[in-house]
Amino acid sequence: MCGIIGYIGYQNAADILLAGLSNLEYRGYDSAGISVMTNGCIQTIKSKGRLKCLADKIESYGKPQGACGIGHTRWATHGEPSDINSHPHYTDNVSIVHNGIIENYLELRKELSEKGYTFTTQTDTESVAKLLDCLYNGDPVQTLASAIQKIDGSYALGVLFKDHPDTIYAIRKDSPLLIALGENENFIASDMPAVLQYTKRYILLEQNEIAVVKQSSVSVFTSEGVPVIKEVHTANWDISKAQKDGFDTFMLKEIFEQPRALHDTISPRIKTGIPTFENDGIPADYFSKFNRIKIVACGTAMHAGMIGKNIIEQLARIPVEVDLASEFRYRNPILYPDDLVIVISQSGETADSLAALRLAKSQGIATLGVVNVTGSSISRETDHCIYTYAGPEIAVASTKAYSVQMAVMYLLAIHLAFIKQTVTAVQAKNLTSSLVTAAQLTRQMLTLDEAMEERAKDYVNAHSLFFIGRGLDYCMSLEGSLKLKEISYIHCEAYAAGELKHGTISLITELTPVVALATQEALIAKMISNIKEVHARGGSVFMLAKDGMPVDTSCCDHVATIPPVEDLFTPILTVIPLQLLAYHTSLLKGCDVDKPRNLAKSVTVE
Ligand code: M6R
Repeated sequence: MCGIIGYIGYQNAADILLAGLSNLEYRGYDSAGISVMTNGCIQTIKSKGRLKCLADKIESYGKPQGACGIGHTRWATHGEPSDINSHPHYTDNVSIVHNGIIENYLELRKELSEKGYTFTTQTDTESVAKLLDCLYNGDPVQTLASAIQKIDGSYALGVLFKDHPDTIYAIRKDSPLLIALGENENFIASDMPAVLQYTKRYILLEQNEIAVVKQSSVSVFTSEGVPVIKEVHTANWDISKAQKDGFDTFMLKEIFEQPRALHDTISPRIKTGIPTFENDGIPADYFSKFNRIKIVACGTAMHAGMIGKNIIEQLARIPVEVDLASEFRYRNPILYPDDLVIVISQSGETADSLAALRLAKSQGIATLGVVNVTGSSISRETDHCIYTYAGPEIAVASTKAYSVQMAVMYLLAIHLAFIKQTVTAVQAKNLTSSLVTAAQLTRQMLTLDEAMEERAKDYVNAHSLFFIGRGLDYCMSLEGSLKLKEISYIHCEAYAAGELKHGTISLITELTPVVALATQEALIAKMISNIKEVHARGGSVFMLAKDGMPVDTSCCDHVATIPPVEDLFTPILTVIPLQLLAYHTSLLKGCDVDKPRNLAKSVTVE
């Protein structure tokens, strides 16, 4: 949520900041702004709206000429999207960009008002700009260290002090920020895609570390002012992976990347035909000690957790609970010493998931992360982390990250079943080979692109839609429905097909299209009865079934099929037409597919 960039070097800072912000815009796009050091002054230009509005404003004002600056793209929390509420927030001496929430901003405002400061915005961030101004004693590191003592909440801050025109200062707590190291130039950024075109080398800031970033040096201090030696990491993502690569949108590109992402995530973890996590640094007998699993996540990642619950319980007979991180963290969950808490997160920075992880750790419970972004907070704070290899996911709607999260759930389920001896070695190998086959068949699923575009035409004018399914198909209904509503703004509900008649069927009319997922052979007879129930009430039905299954298609208007894989593995295939359906509906409605309204990619606030 909110993207931060900073540049100090030999090039025009405004150009670099705008380019960086265009790669960070998926973190928020309510407004954008930059501050650049020019001739001993801090020049700030900011604008409500997309980055284009800022670029136009810079063009008309004249581009600031300086080689040191900070930039921001905003997802509004405190205060409506407006020019005045946009970042940077500044005084005569200091300018800041902020990602996070300052929880005690009202107290700070009061305290600073009493000292004569006036406030012109509705934001929490303005209080930090004025606090820094008030605390400033000529030494920025000391000033930031004093500010840390006074601020409650989460923050990643990029700061310019007018008296130090050749330096960017940065601190973070509970919001992501990294320092990227170039040749004779350095950067601060919320994440690596913003700067991949300049460098792959970066360092990560720990909680409340203070970074002093100059053109040819970077120093880091603890909040007590003690110098810290930092490890330099190298990103394994290259710039082409963070670009559209000829596709019209990131979402479509990312849907089409799924066969590759699945292969990259699954194949390194198969040894002698069975999944192992030794290359992830997890000992062979690690999982044998756990008798219960809690999966905690948000949104799409939580849906991957639901698939995990189904397959782990079926294969390994270990009870699994799935929780929304935002609920888990506040409901005083019952945790036992032999529990394993698994946190699934693409970004590794989702505030609620991170808080849930910390809660489990505070009770001494073992934790495992399933994370896509290397070096992110969740990946660093869990006892062990299984990385998914989706590569950078830029579209706000999660697609390839979801598929690889599911893949890890399958690998874990088979591994657990094998070590808990609920399956034999031969059965484990057969299951692994079915997983690999399903992953390869995703390529074939992409050929449904045109068919889903056709189906999307039926939905553009719908006011409301239902997705129904049973078992694993119910989990997929939740994901299909989230994807469609998220990017096309059409109201959708996902329902367990057997539950409809307990109330919700009263909403079905001839104006309510239904997407029925019917890929589970074991449940097909029951599912067809449920489809007939909605069809009889006039709802047009699009059925997604499995090739070769005896299906009575008289109860549906359209059918598409997935190849005949075992029931357990259908989600890997089912998800692709659902993503394509959401994609085309959004496109036909003229929505911004990659940047749907009100959303941001990485939800780093509660
Ligand atoms: O980065 P995370 O996986 O922790 O993000 C969780 C959700 O915010 C995310 O999956 C969200 O629901 C997506 N926009 C769905 O497409």
